Amino acid sequence: MTKINLENLKIEIEKRVKRAKDLKELDEIFKKYLGKKGEITQILRSLKDLPEKERKKRGELANQIKQDIEKTVRVGREKFQSSSSKFPKEWLDVTVPGKKPALGHLHPLTLIKRKTEEIFEAMGFSVIEGPEVENEWYNFDALNIPKDHPARDVWDTLWLKEPQSQKLLLRTHTSPVQIRYMEKNNPPLRMIVPGRIFRHEATDASHEINFYQLEGLMLGKDISAANFKAIIEEFFSRFFEKEVKIRLRPSFFPFTEPSFEVDIGCLVCKGRGCKVCAQTGWVELMGAGMVHPNVLKAAGINPKNWPGFAFGIGMDRLAMMKYKINDIRLFYSGDLRFLEQF
Ligand code: FA5
Repeated sequence: MTKINLENLKIEIEKRVKRAKDLKELDEIFKKYLGKKGEITQILRSLKDLPEKERKKRGELANQIKQDIEKTVRVGREKFQSSSSKFPKEWLDVTVPGKKPALGHLHPLTLIKRKTEEIFEAMGFSVIEGPEVENEWYNFDALNIPKDHPARDVWDTLWLKEPQSQKLLLRTHTSPVQIRYMEKNNPPLRMIVPGRIFRHEATDASHEINFYQLEGLMLGKDISAANFKAIIEEFFSRFFEKEVKIRLRPSFFPFTEPSFEVDIGCLVCKGRGCKVCAQTGWVELMGAGMVHPNVLKAAGINPKNWPGFAFGIGMDRLAMMKYKINDIRLFYSGDLRFLEQF
């Protein structure tokens, strides 16, 4: 065995150790070279037969190689043992695409509210807010609905237990904000009131006990029902961004005269009939009319000088038509499968 051979052998062993795929293979390599009958063991054993000078030289080299190989195999072994351990070392794959943190988003009714406000603001209407807890005066009396008048029963009211002189209630519509606004602002005026309202009634696909309305009021010198029709048609065409069928029906509200209701051809079923439109093909979206003189008087405005119209849109139904939602109760269900679609 020459000096060259020993060094070559060392290089060859190191290569094999590096290529070893598992502990078993590494053990085999160790056995092959350093085991009882291993090649290096044999070389070391045969040293005794060499002349003394040469034995010393080769002996040193062979022992050095033996130690190096033992070290290489030990390091390789540690590597395999740690990677196969129960708790693998922490590592980071920087090529994995990042995970997007889930962000919250707007509720469909908020989206509709914002869109509606944007359209009316562009037509010169101010956006106003009013209290959800009201008294009888603003919710009923000032709106020409006297006490004990049967019209009061139309709005199934949730009363608050209040030890005050005035009876308090959760507002049954956004109309009381008309009075509050007219008390403080002089005509001509244009305003809308988006807001939450409450009614004690049975729920179904198109009725909730708490829902959103958008009140509108416009007073001016020569305002007529024709202005109302023009504004509302403009609103619908901007809101739905397509032709929609609407119809005005004569109706009754104590606070408007004449009064009408506005229906829209049901967009959920395209007018064929479904549970949203109660199989009629039409959905009632709003009540409206020319403001009753008694209402203007209650707010301190002269009815002769300032005629005008008012309306109250059901925002939930508007959203149902826009997004083709077949049950109003989904808005308040908190069901993420529903909400994440917007
Ligand atoms: C009113 O509340 C009147 N204050 C509207 C008004 C304002 C008329 C100004 C004239 C002048 P009504 O109760 O019809 O009217 O409700 C108005 C709209 O709210 C309805 O057309 C409908 O779209 C919606 N709405 C009524 N009840 C419910 C309910 N239970 N669930 C969901 N939407 C409803």
